[in-house]
Amino acid sequence: MTQKKKLIAGNWKMNGGLQANAALIHALREGLGAPACGVAVAVPAPYLAQVQALVAGSAIALAAQDVSQHEAGAFTGEASAAMLRDFGTRYVLVGHSERRQYHGETDAVVAAKAQRALAAGITPIVCVGETLEQREAGQTEEVVKRQLAAVIEINRDRIGDIVVAYEPVWAIGTGRTATPEQAQAVHAVLRGQLAAATEQAARIPLLYGGSMNATNAAELLAQPDIDGGLVGGASLKAPDFLQIIAAAHHCQA
Ligand code: 13P
Repeated sequence: MTQKKKLIAGNWKMNGGLQANAALIHALREGLGAPACGVAVAVPAPYLAQVQALVAGSAIALAAQDVSQHEAGAFTGEASAAMLRDFGTRYVLVGHSERRQYHGETDAVVAAKAQRALAAGITPIVCVGETLEQREAGQTEEVVKRQLAAVIEINRDRIGDIVVAYEPVWAIGTGRTATPEQAQAVHAVLRGQLAAATEQAARIPLLYGGSMNATNAAELLAQPDIDGGLVGGASLKAPDFLQIIAAAHHCQA
């Protein structure tokens, strides 16, 4: 089986500062060499310009953590896809569970954000995932399919250009990772849903996120439908993030 290149994306969330960012990117550049997988860092919006300069000429791609669903105008506090593009942003997270949970983002809003990103030439990393209650009620499949369906519905022509991240809410920041089997099972469902929508489903990267770390990454990344990781806490420590990148490397054919 030919394997596609894996993608390891760090999500810094609301962490960092000018000095810490410089030190982290410097350490990543030192340790990275020529990675066999794709590498990205999703940084807080105020640091896009700083990190754009820090990653210039490296294998690290710049990502944002959110984008407005609107094109431009009276939307105080928001950043448009065109603005992100101005700073060389290659990926943007949409529908992270923290945005859904704390900012009331609905499936329709997330789908619109993905559409704005695609129109601006930025790859949306569409995040889906169930809560603990939903998992315990046996609703995992139904929830992630509903979340992804909204994105597919209004982006049908471009769906082959997205990235999907499965992040079970109960595994985020809790140290409680989904087992490789649990994650693979959901990824297979998502792959099947994408296959019904596009002939390009096999090449859409499906990332796993939720307490991925240097110890558990290799096992997760070895699953057939896990094409990479979306890493929170461990992406803030260069040695840990580099080890995850190395694990992705070893999972490649
Ligand atoms: P943690 O890796 O800290 O659990 O966060 C996962 C996440 O939410 C990445 O977007």
